[in-house]
Amino acid sequence: MRGRRAGLALVLGLTGAAFGVGRATPFATSSARVERGRYLVAAMGCGGCHTPKTLGATGPKSDPARFLAGHPEGSALDSAPVLPQGTWTVVSSWDSTAFAGPWGVSYAANLTPDENTGLGSWSEETFVRALRTGRHMGASRPILPPMPWGAFRNLSDDDLAAMYAYLRTVPPVRNRIPEPLPPAGAP
Ligand code: HEC
Repeated sequence: MRGRRAGLALVLGLTGAAFGVGRATPFATSSARVERGRYLVAAMGCGGCHTPKTLGATGPKSDPARFLAGHPEGSALDSAPVLPQGTWTVVSSWDSTAFAGPWGVSYAANLTPDENTGLGSWSEETFVRALRTGRHMGASRPILPPMPWGAFRNLSDDDLAAMYAYLRTVPPVRNRIPEPLPPAGAP
């Protein structure tokens, strides 16, 4: 029995070594949390709006080199079309990182841990508060549509913390997001 258990421990140890488990990374102790965060971010489609796309033969495709980097800095967007009065009220850029509607124009944020242009300086508390309150950085202006914070606010504290932990592990991408624009004709 003892021999068997030792054998099992050896096998697990070898498997762990093969996958780099136990290496001294900042998240060595919280890899389950990071995995949970990866799962949630993938399943909730954050990248649909927050990852820039390339245009291929089959249409827009998420660009893995700019994963979750937000609306691409300096991309040439025409000014948002003024829609006629009617039932159609919202438009999206071709790569679904910029959106125009009654709130003005909003640009998906850089969720990578880049220090100056992403979530690098955000604490876990700032992240959780932003998604719970719908206020920029948890404190200032309202977070604009179509960011679905009103749905994400229903996530548990643990899940929001897991998403934050995972977002710290994606490669930082330097990409400054423009300030949102007010609605046309606003003072
Ligand atoms: C339908 C498109 C869409 C989806 C899906 C989406 N976002 Fe966003 N997100 C946006 C837009 C647009 C903004 C910018 C809003 C603004 O400037 O007020 C934003 C802003 C943010 C911000 C910055 C908030 C702040 O304080 O300024 C965070 C953090 C964020 N999103 C996280 C996420 C996460 C995490 C997910 C997935 C669970 C996600 N978003 C899914 C569109 C989206």
